[in-house]
Amino acid sequence: MKEFLNVALPKGRLGERVYAMFAQAGFPCEELLDPKRKLIFENPEAGVRYFWVKPSDVPVYVERGAADVGVAGKDILLEYGPEVYELLDLNIGRCRMCVAAKNGFRDDPERTLRVATEFPHITRTYYTARSRDIDIIRLHGSIEIAPILDLTDVIVDIVETGTTLKENGLEVLEEICPLSARVVVNQVSMKMENERIMKLIRDIKTVI
Ligand code: PRP
Repeated sequence: MKEFLNVALPKGRLGERVYAMFAQAGFPCEELLDPKRKLIFENPEAGVRYFWVKPSDVPVYVERGAADVGVAGKDILLEYGPEVYELLDLNIGRCRMCVAAKNGFRDDPERTLRVATEFPHITRTYYTARSRDIDIIRLHGSIEIAPILDLTDVIVDIVETGTTLKENGLEVLEEICPLSARVVVNQVSMKMENERIMKLIRDIKTVI
């Protein structure tokens, strides 16, 4: 048996909420919240080793087995489609993937729709199912600016409170799907470390 279960946490505000749940479930590691620049933390008693990674890298660590367990947003899982087991919805980081445009925008189905997004795969899948011809422009943040400057007609992006859209004169046109944080597990670890992983999942379930 391995000394530790390796757990990849998404760096940032969501990751801190995720860690709080893991700690409450009996897998604490106080050092983790220390504002120094260390990235890997171990709790030998609880048998866990945590590390902070960029949220979109969590599926890479888990799929390749560098992490046995990870937590990633459903947006990241839909976009990259990693071969991992999705075992649990943590019910936090709840938001929606939406199509949004300038207030009052009307789609002309005769024209190719220009779409700005950080999620080209989700976008392609959504419009292909609707047989809508689109031109995807991949951006890496501040997507809301694209329709304002007429770079695109619409955006496909995450909406949580709706404040960012509102403050920029945009509105939701369509909702693509709900999103939240999910616990994912490496497929080999699921066999080799089944008992420990299922205990971790059971314990976390008690604090959701
Ligand atoms: C996300 C998203 C929106 C914003 C929506 O960005 O891209 O810009 O949150 O939240 P709201 O509906 O509550 O206003 P995030 O802050 O995660 O940063 P990003 O632009 O780097 O993706």
